[in-house]
Amino acid sequence: EKGQYRHYMQKEIFEQPTVVAQTLQSYIRPLEQQVALPQMDFDLKDIKRITIVACGTSYYAGMVAKYWFETFARVPVDLDVASEFRYRDPVLEPGGLALFISQSGETADTLAALRHSKEQGQKIAVVVNVPTSSMAREADLLLPTHAGPEIGVASTKAFSCQLAVLAALAAHLAVVKGKMSRDEEHEVVEHLTEAPAALNAALAHDEDISDMAHLIAPARDVLYLGRGPDYPLALEGALKLKEISYIHAEGYASGEMKHGPIALIDEAVPVIVLAPSGPLFEKTVSNMQEVMARGGKVVLISDAAGLAEAGEGCMATIEMPKVHPLIAPLVYAVPVQLLAYHVAVAKGTDVDQPRNLAKSVTVE
Ligand code: M6R
Repeated sequence: EKGQYRHYMQKEIFEQPTVVAQTLQSYIRPLEQQVALPQMDFDLKDIKRITIVACGTSYYAGMVAKYWFETFARVPVDLDVASEFRYRDPVLEPGGLALFISQSGETADTLAALRHSKEQGQKIAVVVNVPTSSMAREADLLLPTHAGPEIGVASTKAFSCQLAVLAALAAHLAVVKGKMSRDEEHEVVEHLTEAPAALNAALAHDEDISDMAHLIAPARDVLYLGRGPDYPLALEGALKLKEISYIHAEGYASGEMKHGPIALIDEAVPVIVLAPSGPLFEKTVSNMQEVMARGGKVVLISDAAGLAEAGEGCMATIEMPKVHPLIAPLVYAVPVQLLAYHVAVAKGTDVDQPRNLAKSVTVE
């Protein structure tokens, strides 16, 4: 079943261009260049606030979506990890949409949060990969990802498909809220349509990433930095590395470095910087230079323009295609997945079945 691949995780990383295209197909009308959502029994226009709840990697997809819902649709978003949500007795007012993101659709904390929100009168939207799951059944608005079965415990293709669905939802919400013109919607659709090719271009760097795995494998700690919608990707990169290579890793918002974690920096702590060129680039580069000035070894992940500007002095660089900021989080997921994968392979850990972890966490 793994075909040419050594591990399910590797196979699933490489499936991303196909499954993202497959997922987008059901959310895009290509002729009209519009986003289309499944039926729902309420009007999205009436939604005043969105509460996003999920765990792990699905939570990081939600974190990216918060940026999109707020920038495009100007709808305020609350975001919680599911295990915290109910216990803080969140304020859930009429007109609220509670959005749950889950690969399995069975994660106990997320499901309990869904039921709590329903009791509190929220409309329930669910982005889920298993269409027969409990969460899928209990949704008012079911937004399936079409990633196909994900076997590797470390989530990869489900994440990129979640991002594709969430981007489509954000654009649709922006249109119905009158915050996005039809022309702007066409542009968004165009960028989303470019995602599968950009994912392929990112995957083409597999060998380069494999070649640099030995630089990371001996480390005890690794830091990941990102800004804006790429900050959640730093968190996701750190989670992937922890899960499968057992190296301690943390993700930080680039600007937070000097508020504490910079104290950790020395030659033994690799710092992975996710920084597509664009308006936030300069700021991230200056954070990166602070790291380098303290002897920190940087791996810069950026596009050709970004690498030309700031690649010098880095321990290694990974070149991504130049993409629109909207799809950058999808594309930058690939190098962090591949890096974790190759480091784990170099260390000889069990990539598909990491110790202590279950694919679906059905206890609270
Ligand atoms: O099935 P779910 O998306 O609800 O699962 C949530 C988390 O348990 C999951 O993303 C976990 O963090 C993965 N092992 C991450 O790779």
